[in-house]
Amino acid sequence: MNMNVVRDVEDEPVDKMAMWWRSSITEIAPDVIRLRGYPIQDLIGNITFPAVVWLMTRGELPTAAQARLLEAVLVAGVDHGPLAPSLSIARMAATCGVGLNNAIASGVNVLGDVHGGAGEQCMEFLAGIEQALDTDSALQPAVSQALLEFQKKRGRYIPGFGHRFHRVDPRAVRIGKLLDAAIQEGVISGDIVRIARAVERYFEDSGRNVPMNIDGITAVVLLELGFPPPLGRGIFILSRSVGICAHAWEQTQQGGRIKGPVPKDCGFKYEGPPKRVIPGEWLA
Ligand SMILES: CC(C)(COP(=O)(O)OP(=O)(O)OC[C@H]1O[C@@H](n2cnc3c(N)ncnc32)[C@H](O)[C@@H]1OP(=O)(O)O)[C@@H](O)C(=O)NCCC(=O)NCCS
Repeated sequence: MNMNVVRDVEDEPVDKMAMWWRSSITEIAPDVIRLRGYPIQDLIGNITFPAVVWLMTRGELPTAAQARLLEAVLVAGVDHGPLAPSLSIARMAATCGVGLNNAIASGVNVLGDVHGGAGEQCMEFLAGIEQALDTDSALQPAVSQALLEFQKKRGRYIPGFGHRFHRVDPRAVRIGKLLDAAIQEGVISGDIVRIARAVERYFEDSGRNVPMNIDGITAVVLLELGFPPPLGRGIFILSRSVGICAHAWEQTQQGGRIKGPVPKDCGFKYEGPPKRVIPGEWLA
């Protein structure tokens, strides 16, 4: 008999199976569910959803004040109307005969580097400036230098600043006030807030109105709270998924079949070759 086979079957599979997925997040046993060690029944009714998002992604419970700041960005990013691609795509999907899950997934799927990804990029940009600053550096020249270097490498648009519709993004103004209060109360250091405001000042000094947008202010909050940049995108997706779900559901209730991005009489610009004839060898 092959002893390896016997050992495989009788002893190792248990360990092998147990080690296949390793996780520090949730402990499950009969009648037991613990998130990061906390019994679920203790969390329910006591801990807010944003605090649970923090617990799940970071491993520890935040303070109530930290959770309120996280909640602010989760609320702020929830929706930007049906013309935002993630939302119109979810609505179009809902008219194609797929279920709510597919419609939501379709919307989430387009939250990439260009649409939805500016927050993560802004976090990297601002964190890079913070790392480069030493105690002797003057803030404004360091920010100007980082900005010019970024633009040289990555193009003229700094992620997290400027907006097509809003001259001033009301979400950024409100969260800015919450950040100021959090600095006063010692909840955050305010180092990233100062850097981001120095970026705004750079634009003002060059005669342009390019204030922080929702991605920028979210980046500031998340960095101040200690989130790493890639998780920033995850947090934005959690927030925007609520809007995507609501739009997909509304469209499902409205009905509509195979709805395209514009009404069908709007048409589009055809740029291909004019009408032509199939070569004779293909014709019967
Ligand atoms: C959102 C965005 C596309 C809006 O752009 P827009 O309203 O079309 O602005 P314009 O391209 O007309 O720019 C107007 C001026 O502001 C400047 N500007 C606008 N956004 C800028 C940015 N993020 N960084 C640097 N300069 C910017 C432009 O260079 C331009 O300057 P100029 O007049 O000297 O040429 C643009 O601000 C952007 O790409 N921002 C970064 C990406 C981002 O944060 N996206 C999330 C949006 S919620």
